[in-house]
Amino acid sequence: MGFRTIRGTRDILPDESYEWEFVENQIRAWFRRFNYREIQTPAFEETTLFARGIGQLTDIVSKEMYTFEDRGGTSLTLKPEMTASVIRAFIQHHLGSSAPLTKLFYISPMFRQERPQAGRLRQFHQFGAEALGSAHPEIDAEVILLATSIYASFGLEKTVLKLTSVGCEKCRPGYKKILQEALRSVVDRLTADSQRRVDENPMRVLDSKEPQDRAATANVPLVKDHLCPECSDHFRELQSLLTKTGVAFEIDGRLVRGLDYYTKTAFELVSGDLGSQDALAGGGRYDLLAQELGGSPAPGIGFAAGIERLLVVLEKRSLFRGEAPHATVFVATLNGEAREDAFRLLQELRQSGISAEMDFHRRSLKAQMREAGRQRADAVVLLGGDEWKTGLVALRDMRNGEQRQIPKEELADSLLRMIG
Ligand code: HAM
Repeated sequence: MGFRTIRGTRDILPDESYEWEFVENQIRAWFRRFNYREIQTPAFEETTLFARGIGQLTDIVSKEMYTFEDRGGTSLTLKPEMTASVIRAFIQHHLGSSAPLTKLFYISPMFRQERPQAGRLRQFHQFGAEALGSAHPEIDAEVILLATSIYASFGLEKTVLKLTSVGCEKCRPGYKKILQEALRSVVDRLTADSQRRVDENPMRVLDSKEPQDRAATANVPLVKDHLCPECSDHFRELQSLLTKTGVAFEIDGRLVRGLDYYTKTAFELVSGDLGSQDALAGGGRYDLLAQELGGSPAPGIGFAAGIERLLVVLEKRSLFRGEAPHATVFVATLNGEAREDAFRLLQELRQSGISAEMDFHRRSLKAQMREAGRQRADAVVLLGGDEWKTGLVALRDMRNGEQRQIPKEELADSLLRMIG
């Protein structure tokens, strides 16, 4: 057996790459409509950026990062998510100094050493957006609408939007104590994993999918019911904006995102078509992250979404509208004499903007026509017949079989007209 892809990574083969192109084009169009501008960041960063940004105690930082030392002894990590990198770039390039609101989007591979399963890869792709500079709920609502609009435009109107508020540095510490007390009173009924989290990261206990944990914590207090007045107003105003714009949502007080930077708004878009890894997208507000990463205070909110998971759902529901690309015109020759002219014509067609192909195996006309059919060419240009010597070429419309002869110099125009 030769070389194979690493576990949890995938090749995107030509037969599926057009689906990626279709999905990415549509996503980009939505980002443009909402006036977000693209940012690209390197595949790896200093390890501390993610450790500090995402949080030491999160699963991502404690177990899932691809971390390595470079030859100079610097600890580097392949980006497991984009938010920390985007904020790093925002601070480094003073992006906040030229506009009151900085709206950025990205489409990029991410790396997490998770246990691979359906919908969970070690190299996966996210599209996402981050809006930096406003603390008001209008921008929370915009970011959520951006995400839901994208899914709706693919025909996925029925994704469920789960929404909550996780509080801020004023109300969360008090809530954590209340939660810890409640969890300690049921600690014997929790799984070992959750028992460990009671002291370290009690809110993660609420996120456990284990039925045993679910049952034990059914009645513990939730942070959304312990918000300070500021967080509570923010949450209420956001809900009102969403309701006004017709966005359906479910309040889910047990929603705990796997990253520590969130304040106030947190949300997830889930799909019933995905099994246990049901999150299509997740996001929230992170008003303290810029400061945490060494910048001036800058409130922010964003979301990220898994492209592979979107593709799975689109496929399951047969919602692809893209078409596999193919060469429009096939240049065929009747004999070897015409081959050089065919080669030159091929280049001329391509230069006039027409996707063109020819036979590179010096095969018979019959075999060339079969190849043109296999490639689903819309038209075949035939060189080498009697008419060819008088400056004409034979043009066959492969969709209806009609063949006519036209002057060579009119070929590009005729083809463009023919294929629309
Ligand atoms: P996240 O929830 O960790 O959030 O990831 C967002 C989405 O990426 C998930 O909902 C899922 O669709 C996809 N995803 C995550 N891990 C995998 C994986 N191993 N395989 C396949 N897909 C995966 C974030 O990354 C935050 N940065 C989102 C954010 C942006 N919050 C604020 N701004």
